[in-house]
Amino acid sequence: MSGTTPTTPRIALVLAGCMMLVLAGCRAPGKPGPAEPRPDRVMEFAKLYKQNCAACHGEEGKRGLAVSLSNPVYIAIAGKEAVLNATAKGGPGKLMPAFAKSYGGTLTDAQIEVLADGIVRHWGQPQLLAGKNPPSYAATLAGDAAAGNAAYTAYCTRCHAEEAIDKTHIAGPITDANYLALISDQGLRTAILSGRPEEGMPDWRGIAPRPLTDRQVTDIVAWLASLRKTPASPNTASSKEKSHE
Ligand code: HEC
Ligand code: HEC
Repeated sequence: MSGTTPTTPRIALVLAGCMMLVLAGCRAPGKPGPAEPRPDRVMEFAKLYKQNCAACHGEEGKRGLAVSLSNPVYIAIAGKEAVLNATAKGGPGKLMPAFAKSYGGTLTDAQIEVLADGIVRHWGQPQLLAGKNPPSYAATLAGDAAAGNAAYTAYCTRCHAEEAIDKTHIAGPITDANYLALISDQGLRTAILSGRPEEGMPDWRGIAPRPLTDRQVTDIVAWLASLRKTPASPNTASSKEKSHE
């Protein structure tokens, strides 16, 4: 029951590893070869994506540990503004770094625009959800955690194990407070809305016998959020680490 490996969600460990790699990459003393343009002159989508995003979101925007940016369902629900916003500002206190220089990151506004535009144009399918009326990208209602608990039990536990993946579950536990401390409410909502198609999690339409409603999605996120031990402080891990030093 302590934070030992079997109960620590795989995603948490790998994401932390990714982040260290990325940070190391950013700090490597810059000795660009003669043909390398200055970092803030790189304007090709593929190159910017590979250098800054692929470590966590996967080559080609999928099979990474963080949300698949090439999932057309995600793009259709989120839209370019949300992609641009998250890329520029990151997730406060979470594992998604802020990339805009104005938020302490390394990329210019023009580079962020190339990334958001490229994600939507290369990987989006404009008419994909036309007429499908998906729940909104961001929550607009107040969630009911008790109703969310019931919906989670009914629809999510058929795949998500309570403790560790076993023969009857294809996905790991997501109700662990250590995992929940690493992902924002929007990140949870995004996962439910867009699924993880390449790993077998359907989008909001395929999770339950009928498409999940906006209210159900909001309630489930409210319930998961209520399981976080310290909602206001993302820094519980670092205070633990200190005691080992
Ligand atoms: C048909 C199986 C299936 C169902 C039903 C399902 N999931 Fe998943 N889910 C998966 C798989 C597979 C993964 C990826 C593997 C993993 O993380 O262990 C995943 C991953 C996730 C993640 C992590 C995503 C990320 O990007 O960090 C969250 C959060 C999640 N699911 C929430 C839910 C919730 C909430 C429900 C119910 C509303 C649900 N899932 C229903 C199979 C499912
Ligand atoms: C160190 C790992 C890491 C790197 C590098 C990274 N991301 Fe992320 N990203 C994440 C995680 C983790 C989340 C989920 C954050 C949350 O909601 O808690 C995320 C979330 C996002 C989201 C929001 C998803 C949503 O819910 O709408 C977008 C958009 C995004 N990333 C784009 C990018 C782009 C573009 C790059 C490269 C410029 C990038 N990310 C680099 C880890 C990373």
